[in-house]
Amino acid sequence: MTSKELRKKFLDYFEKNGHKIVPSFSLLPINSSVLFTTAGMQQFTSHLQGKDNPIKGFNSQHLTSCQKCFRSDDIEEIGDDTHHSFFEMLGNWSIGQNEKGEYFKQGAIEYALDFLINELGLEKDKLYITIFKGNEDIPKDNESINIWQGQGIEREKIKEFGEEDNLWGPVGETGICGSCSEIYYDRGQKFGCGKKECGPNCQHCKRFVEIWNLVFIEYAKDENKKYKLLNQKSVDTGMGLERIISILQNKPSAYETDLFVPIIQEIEKQGDKKYQDEKKNFRIIADHVRGSIFLISEGVLPSNIEQGYILRRILRRAIRYGKIIKAEPQFLIPLAKKTIDIYKDIYPEIALKQADILTVIQKEEEKFEKTLEKGLIETTSVIDSYVDGEDISGKAAFDLYQTYGFPIEMIKELADEHNKKVDKKEFEQELKKHQEISRAGKDKKFGGGGKFSPKLHTATHLLHSALRQILGEKVQQMGSDITEERLRFDFSFERKLLPEELKQIENLVNEKIKQNLPIKEQKMDYKKAVELGALAFFKEKYPDIVSVYSINNFSKEICAGPHANKTSELGKFKIIKEKSSSAGIRRIKAILE
Ligand code: ALA
Repeated sequence: MTSKELRKKFLDYFEKNGHKIVPSFSLLPINSSVLFTTAGMQQFTSHLQGKDNPIKGFNSQHLTSCQKCFRSDDIEEIGDDTHHSFFEMLGNWSIGQNEKGEYFKQGAIEYALDFLINELGLEKDKLYITIFKGNEDIPKDNESINIWQGQGIEREKIKEFGEEDNLWGPVGETGICGSCSEIYYDRGQKFGCGKKECGPNCQHCKRFVEIWNLVFIEYAKDENKKYKLLNQKSVDTGMGLERIISILQNKPSAYETDLFVPIIQEIEKQGDKKYQDEKKNFRIIADHVRGSIFLISEGVLPSNIEQGYILRRILRRAIRYGKIIKAEPQFLIPLAKKTIDIYKDIYPEIALKQADILTVIQKEEEKFEKTLEKGLIETTSVIDSYVDGEDISGKAAFDLYQTYGFPIEMIKELADEHNKKVDKKEFEQELKKHQEISRAGKDKKFGGGGKFSPKLHTATHLLHSALRQILGEKVQQMGSDITEERLRFDFSFERKLLPEELKQIENLVNEKIKQNLPIKEQKMDYKKAVELGALAFFKEKYPDIVSVYSINNFSKEICAGPHANKTSELGKFKIIKEKSSSAGIRRIKAILE
């Protein structure tokens, strides 16, 4: 079965069963706290809350769609068998269960099993189920266990999990949600860890793949994390097209199916490596090209904020991985053309925007090539500074990785060309340290895990001190997040900042940058540091011995680094946004130019 046939089969099946086919909604949700459409139900949010269906012409309570989705929170996992940035989700809905025949758990489960077994031909034996085991607020889903058993699924194949896995939603911090029952497919022993406890949600292997999520929407979660029953019950389901097609085509992942094969073959032509030898690198490039195309087709342009930031991040990541497989500059263009060919009949906006898509990709590639060139020169000079036989320190490799975003493989390869090795162990340690720092300030909207810029980190310290100098000592750091492109700083303050205050803050930071002050690190006892007036981020627990970073007598903070060496390295500091983050907390986003 081709992916085209699968989409059609799914929609036809639910149409035949009284569902109205709804076209895919945009990847960019309106009036939402999240950046992207991450699930098929998003466009029905108000309908699911019991309000009118806002979509003209779709008054039906039974709906089905194939929805374009984009998730930026697991970019680091892409390259494995089951994660993608852009993906398609097949779904069916029964909104507001009532006497008129809207179905709930029984109907949702019957449809899903009928479709998988009788329409797609999957073996029932290979299906495993998960259900919600209950928490303080919501009881265990015994009803679903009974229904699955009534459908011939053995009790030992029905596994119980908690909130993390089987309480779905809300999209964002608050909103509609409910317990869910997921269908897993057993790919067989060759994908397994062989452990006795192996099953759905296995911590050690990916033998069991989640293919379909049946959500029973009954609650709304409020700001205080409390669940309130809605006036109506609804079904919201989602089946990942990429996952199910890989199973139907009997392939380990979607990259070996008709959704990706033409792109993968084109990458082989553009570089000098084979997919079989470089699977992960190929997959990352293919995923990111596809994701970029869909974002650009909806009007997103590379930038330093919000959706544009994610687009820039995946485009640049694709380019860097292109270097590893020795692709020529501008290699993304032929890949983009192939991708457009695959999707243009299904999503006509892709064909309509073809010219724009190619131009945006080309421009970003040209721009990024210049940064890369600088990075290559720098990397080569770092490598040359080591004598023959001496290993490049993991710290030096990590600094290059952070500043230019070069993957470690690339640095290793360059070192290799000069007959040198990289201290990989030390590199891993540095990476771990850094991941801990960035996780502490993880920004949900951005999905965290971004590259981290030491210069922006130093700028954050300068900003913190400037805020306290201009607005008063009551300003307290409430959170911070740094990526490759921008810093974000949350602090306690009761009102919006005035334009002249923002200007004063910006000027003060820039003055300190111009003074070319050194950033000094000192290790000391935590108590001593606090006595000396070093600022600490109160939410964190600190070890007994801490590092204190000082910038002259302007800034002194306890922190794990890393920082720039001198403030002049920072360039020009610019505030790009000031807004409320939550009650009594303001948020500033700033960049270095
Ligand atoms: N909304 C559910 C999901 O995204 C179906 O998994």
